[in-house]
Amino acid sequence: PAFDLVLRNAHAITAADEFDCDIGIKDGMIAALGRGLAPGEREIDVAGRNVTPGGVDAHCHLDQPTAPPVRMADDFDTGTRSAACGGTTTVIPFAAQQKGHSLREAVDDYHRRANGKAHIDYAFHLIVSDPTPDVLNRELPALIAEGYTSFKLYMTYDDLKLDDGQILDVLDVARKHGAMAMVHAENSDCIEWLTKRLEASGRTAPRFHAHSRPMLVEREATHRAISLSQLVDVPILIVHVSGKDAVEQIRWARGLGLNIFAETCPQYLFLTAEDLGIESDGQGSYLGARCVCSPPPRDKSNQDVIWNGLADGLFTVFSSDHAPFKYEGVEGKHPGGEEVAFRHIPNGIPGIETRMPLLWSEGVLAGRLTAQKFVELTATNPAKAYGLHPRKGSIAIGADADLVVWDERELTLDNAMLHHEVDYTPYAGMQLRAWPGLTLSRGEVVWDGSTFHGRAGRGQFLACGAPTLMPRKR
Ligand code: URP
Ligand code: ZN
Ligand code: ZN
Ligand code: ZN
Repeated sequence: PAFDLVLRNAHAITAADEFDCDIGIKDGMIAALGRGLAPGEREIDVAGRNVTPGGVDAHCHLDQPTAPPVRMADDFDTGTRSAACGGTTTVIPFAAQQKGHSLREAVDDYHRRANGKAHIDYAFHLIVSDPTPDVLNRELPALIAEGYTSFKLYMTYDDLKLDDGQILDVLDVARKHGAMAMVHAENSDCIEWLTKRLEASGRTAPRFHAHSRPMLVEREATHRAISLSQLVDVPILIVHVSGKDAVEQIRWARGLGLNIFAETCPQYLFLTAEDLGIESDGQGSYLGARCVCSPPPRDKSNQDVIWNGLADGLFTVFSSDHAPFKYEGVEGKHPGGEEVAFRHIPNGIPGIETRMPLLWSEGVLAGRLTAQKFVELTATNPAKAYGLHPRKGSIAIGADADLVVWDERELTLDNAMLHHEVDYTPYAGMQLRAWPGLTLSRGEVVWDGSTFHGRAGRGQFLACGAPTLMPRKR
């Protein structure tokens, strides 16, 4: 047969188009799109259902080393399993440099963590936390040439943060070598000052996490990141944008013609700061620790601002920021059943499996986003931003056959149906209108709507090319 697999009667959706066709797959790639394609060795009739590119989750944390006893619950095995069951076929987690160590050590260590474990394809972002002259002049340029073409810079967290001069130095390398810099924009000194004041008055419950990081903390850092990007004359991508204040800064920068890209995440659409104050059986309000992330979720009006930014093109990518910390257990957010002060609660929320279904259901099927915009935000743009397009992120001849077939059905989200190792989902109880009925990774069915069919180690490492969201400066 001409094809290994033919998906019959697909309603294919790309970032630009939609059309009815058969999808012919050969050697893991899309070989033909057309009506009445020749038979394949295997045939699946999808009966007119919507088919989108597999998701590219360009911001997720898997098996990232943390200070003990805190530990990430998902490694490349369980994390990519969970991703695939939610329609994601490529993940880009972070190889984090430790201060005093080289970037190469982080990359080698991260390859060891991924090797033989991933069920779907993966690339790495770097986290640059110690930009020594050797890192700037030798390591970073060499790693960019090898396919690590994006890195995250932190403006907060003591073990990761860079000062403005260091950020300028790293952005200058991004400019010279055509890499994409992601920025975590929050003002570190403001957070520390507010945290100390809250602690001095005994306000340490999870809900005070939001008080320690009000929107102006994010607004100031976003403005500063934009200014540093403008000074160096290089694009940046601001990650996990939470609400109106940061959005206004980004709109202003776009109005000036600057190449400022932005990402947002499900927590800013579906959670609010009130979720940090959930009561646990009358004992207190510690359950809210499950929703502690940075920046924190805001309020309903800010959720609307984020929805508008997704619909009107302000946001370039929609990622999970999956940060898999369990609630119970010494390694989690409620260590050994103890209620620790918010400063000590690991930051981040699980969501690698729920990212695509939440946005398809509440965005597209609820009438807030076009199907094309969904594809752009969840697959095409992240692939372009990090140098994986056109192999990933589209339905096109020659692209990898990474595809999702959507089943429209009513369901109530429940952690028991998810495939991560985290012991909760912050979205439990939500009513959804759809879930992936089929996920294909390079033409192989890895999820069929009820059973996971992956194989640890089948996922391949992807060396990234140059970002293609905009033409390279010449
Ligand atoms: O709270 C968050 N977002 N934790 C994950 C790490 C990060 O800064 O993205
Ligand atoms: Zn070392
Ligand atoms: Zn961050
Ligand atoms: Zn993150």
